[in-house]
Amino acid sequence: MFNDTSSLLAHLATRRSGKARDMIAPGPDAAQLQAIIALALRTPDHGKLAPWRIVTIADDQRDAFAALLKKAWVAENPGAAGMDLSALDQFAHQAPTLLVLVSTPTPGAKIPVWEQQMSAGAVGMNLLHAAHAHGFVASWLTGWAAFSPEVAAAFDPQAFARGWRDALTDPPPGAHRLLVALAGAQVVGAAAYGPSQDPDTGQATGELTLLAVHPLARRQGHGSRLLNACVDQLRDLGADTVTAWLLADAEETRAFLLGAGLEPDGAYRDRVVSPDGATLREVRVRATLGQDTDDDAQGG
Ligand SMILES: Cc1cc2nc3c(=O)[nH]c(=O)nc-3n(C[C@H](O)[C@H](O)[C@H](O)COP(=O)(O)O)c2cc1C
Repeated sequence: MFNDTSSLLAHLATRRSGKARDMIAPGPDAAQLQAIIALALRTPDHGKLAPWRIVTIADDQRDAFAALLKKAWVAENPGAAGMDLSALDQFAHQAPTLLVLVSTPTPGAKIPVWEQQMSAGAVGMNLLHAAHAHGFVASWLTGWAAFSPEVAAAFDPQAFARGWRDALTDPPPGAHRLLVALAGAQVVGAAAYGPSQDPDTGQATGELTLLAVHPLARRQGHGSRLLNACVDQLRDLGADTVTAWLLADAEETRAFLLGAGLEPDGAYRDRVVSPDGATLREVRVRATLGQDTDDDAQGG
């Protein structure tokens, strides 16, 4: 018997990986996945540097992940098409749950980079153990994508951090605010707003520029609380309207915002998202901010 979880020794003696492309739903639910990741992080870590990141690729992020892989592959292999690209599509969509483990060693720290990389590797092994212990199959894949500089750059936490720092320390003119949602001490969501920059909106229009909840913390009311807080603050700042731009095919976000009382106002724009000129369509939703009642922005 493989992955016999009747005892720790039995598990260690019988552990085997599954084949990712053969994995079928259901994968772990949000609570199980959180537990699996928490177990995986019980990893020896010399100097407590946590030289790793675990990124969850949610269902609604699989297409974007596939697009990233294909763009990087074509950039590295000009003229690639057909089978190569469909294999990358399959790679990005395989298995009900997909995590990206990023090794993020700090060069120049007292602990050698090699030791930090081994710690990140230990997280990978522990992820398999933890998934198996929860009764799932799991496997660890690298392949070309793990060594692609362009793919790695998309997961570079320092680039994210730089972007965030710049946005927070050097915001555009007007009142901009960033709000975060906490579960205990853990940040699980964020929202931001500022004055609308659209030429066709009035002076007193605030724009919701970010509303994101971590995939493992969704359906717990964080999105509604963030949205309500933004709306309350915008109203206090004198805004009479709130708008938000969202991707035309972002069904979950659209359903959430419509449920909260925002409505499409007919505006749309096509944003260039890659050097080859590919565009993505965004549509605008808006709501009028009435008097300060508690039922302005309900939602799931
Ligand atoms: C870091 C790492 C990367 C791997 N990458 C791949 C891969 O890209 N493709 C693949 O078929 N197997 C890959 N493997 C091997 C499988 O995950 C698995 O370990 C192997 O098939 C042996 O199965 P077992 O874990 O049941 O002993 C990788 C293993 C490790 C440790």
